[in-house]
Amino acid sequence: MALAQPVSAPLTRAAIFLVVTINPGPDNRAAVRSFCADLPALIRAVEFRELEAGLSCVMGIGSDAWDRLFGHPRPAELHPFREIRGAQHHAVSTPGDLLFHIRAKRMDLCFEMAAQIMERLGESVSAVDEVHGFRYFDDRDLLGFVDGTENPRGEAVIDAALIGEEDAAFAGGSYVIVQKYLHDLNGWNALSTEAQERIIGRSKLSDVELDDSIKPASAHNALTTITENGKEFQIVRDNMPFGRVGTGEYGTYFIGYCRTPRVTEQMLENMFVGRPPGNYDRLLDFSRAVTGTLFFVPSATFLESVNDAAHAQATPAAGLTLEPAPSRAPAPDGSLAVGSLKGENRYE
Ligand code: HEM
Repeated sequence: MALAQPVSAPLTRAAIFLVVTINPGPDNRAAVRSFCADLPALIRAVEFRELEAGLSCVMGIGSDAWDRLFGHPRPAELHPFREIRGAQHHAVSTPGDLLFHIRAKRMDLCFEMAAQIMERLGESVSAVDEVHGFRYFDDRDLLGFVDGTENPRGEAVIDAALIGEEDAAFAGGSYVIVQKYLHDLNGWNALSTEAQERIIGRSKLSDVELDDSIKPASAHNALTTITENGKEFQIVRDNMPFGRVGTGEYGTYFIGYCRTPRVTEQMLENMFVGRPPGNYDRLLDFSRAVTGTLFFVPSATFLESVNDAAHAQATPAAGLTLEPAPSRAPAPDGSLAVGSLKGENRYE
């Protein structure tokens, strides 16, 4: 059975989000492939320096990079992030071949991990984005609201985030979408607390959800709630505040894991275009997405066996079958067609 990467690691005090592109050329591709196999040992080395700090590192691989590094078979739903253009707001699609989501209780471990990764990858990659996130008071974002409350917990995390039998060759994997948002904090702070609460859909001080009688259909937590036939489809978020006071940069780094990108994409569609169209998320009037990228997070088992596969691309990785995954055509009724996914997953 494939061992998953630690997508469900608990919320931490610190995180680094590092996105790089792979430089052209076969040598660089070979360097990245051999890096994949060495990453687990590199993580263990940094982690062991302070076990209490709970270091974790998740590596994601973009769609084009997957083709260049591994070819076939490929994860059934991997594709480049699709930009979304609403009437007012735009979810941009930006480059990224590899994502490193590094978390720990302390920034020094995150920093050391990121430094070791870049040292090891050397000239084979170019960094395109690096965000150092911190946990703010009471797990609040810089808009002042507690962020993460309705995340799935316990078994539900695995069920939401990890691929199961629906793509058996990539079981234990996940899809992750990241977006870097910059806030217009002056504009936001000019709103009354009540107006802010109607945008988020929760009380600012107590973090309790607003009653349906006062919560507008455009509230952030209304538009990001996806249900189909009475079932709710969740993603696993670990957003982090970041900023630079000197340049007035105040942001939220959004990161959402899911066993299918369709759930997160549907949430984005609802936020940017609106549900129904026009009824968009007012959070976007004060938060601009400046990046947007989709990555596949293979299982740890897949990563450790990449070296074998690098020599003969179609060699089955240990513990995984490389049968072509059944392609998942959109459901004829236009639904997400994820209903059958619930409860199938047994990977941890
Ligand atoms: C500027 C960026 C964002 C900020 C500041 C933000 C903040 C928040 C806050 C404060 C909550 C309420 C507390 C909670 O349940 O966590 C929330 C809920 C949520 N957000 Fe966001 N969010 C952002 C972007 C996104 C994006 C891009 C998505 C999905 C694509 C998303 C998905 C969700 C979901 C699924 C919930 C829980 C809804 C529920 O079940 O009640 N968020 N967010």
